Amino acid sequence: MSQNLKAVKGMRDLLPELAEKFRYIESTASSTAGLYGFNEIRTPILEPTALFLRSLGDTSDIVSKEMYRFTDHGGEDLVLRPEGTAGVARAFLCEGLAQHLPLKLCYQGPMFRRERPQRGRYRQFSQFGVELLGVEKPQADLEVLACGYRILKTLGVLGTVTLHLNTIGDQASRQDYREKLVSYFSERKSELSKDSLDRLEKNPLRILDSKDPSDIALLKEAPKLHASLSEDAKTFFNEVTEGLKLLGIPFEVDERLVRGLDYYCHTVFEFTTTALGAQSAILAGGRYDGLISDLGGPKTPGVGWAFGVDRLAELLPERQSELAVISLIPLGQEAEMKAVMIAEDLRGQGLRVELGYSGNLAKRMKRADKLGSQAVVILGSDELIKGLATVKNLKLGTQSEVSISSLGAHLKSLS
Ligand code: HAM
Repeated sequence: MSQNLKAVKGMRDLLPELAEKFRYIESTASSTAGLYGFNEIRTPILEPTALFLRSLGDTSDIVSKEMYRFTDHGGEDLVLRPEGTAGVARAFLCEGLAQHLPLKLCYQGPMFRRERPQRGRYRQFSQFGVELLGVEKPQADLEVLACGYRILKTLGVLGTVTLHLNTIGDQASRQDYREKLVSYFSERKSELSKDSLDRLEKNPLRILDSKDPSDIALLKEAPKLHASLSEDAKTFFNEVTEGLKLLGIPFEVDERLVRGLDYYCHTVFEFTTTALGAQSAILAGGRYDGLISDLGGPKTPGVGWAFGVDRLAELLPERQSELAVISLIPLGQEAEMKAVMIAEDLRGQGLRVELGYSGNLAKRMKRADKLGSQAVVILGSDELIKGLATVKNLKLGTQSEVSISSLGAHLKSLS
């Protein structure tokens, strides 16, 4: 195949089996989020570049190296959205949604990050996310966390999953901590990795989630974030952890969890799995009380998360099709056309029907078997004249003659 007709690196074709898993995950998530009052919002895939520069932070990996950014023919500076929260915040401002607070919105769709592709990490991937705007209390964090937990539970993937939770405090807590951290690492610059040295200048908190062994060793003795927390931040986090205990949602406090985006404050969390290798975060988020005001809006607290549909699809057990397949096999010229009519009638009754298009009976039976058919309906010309068809129940190995007029009811009684 010609080189330039390949899919773009890191971007996948979702073939039917995988696409069906995506659909199932997204519809389960959306109906579960509906129980919490989240309503869907659809925002554009292209957003002005300034939106992400102002919300995610210049030093975030996304802004510094991963955005698909371009200038269109009209000279506008645009980005293929790398995540959904900033777009929801922009829509909140542009659509005058402040009068509807508190507001619960959910979204799903493709996101784009030019990361190094590997298992579970793609350059185009899908997220499903929820955002709860306008509630400053820890109860909102709890609702949002409970919603994520319930979705993972409903999908049956909790077995390998742990909820990691942390607080990065309010602005005052972080300012105090940043100073202590900078002073600690400034005396140990020669031992820091190159990336962390860079972060020391720009965003020292990010050193905490470094994977470099020498950084990790240094972090053991480093000042602790929790020691810098204000009383308010401590009380807030305490209410979140106590609430999780009451809800029966297990979690681990991970003091090194800081998350890579600038808009977070207070609660941050990640549900990770041991089943996917390095790309272990499946659902992640936190509180972002400063985001909307940073974008020029009124002070509006927010908390939310997003999960990677691609990653959850890998965790999902194999799924059986929800509708049993019925295969129609016409024998003879006249039966071929009649079969199209009968198939249409059966579909009208809610049955999933496949037509055996060509080949002898054996070949068509083989295809019906391959499709996992529950039953095969053989339409022979002679039988059709009598208004009858032969129904083979492939699951039980039985066979019976059924009148065409009661075919639908008979086939439904099989499942
Ligand atoms: P995030 O941690 O950047 O947060 O992404 C959330 C989830 O999206 C990740 O945990 C992962 O499952 C999935 N994901 C991220 N990048 C990739 C990739 N390259 N390939 C496959 N899956 C990926 C956010 O995006 C925030 N907007 C979440 C949020 C909502 N915070 C508050 N509200």
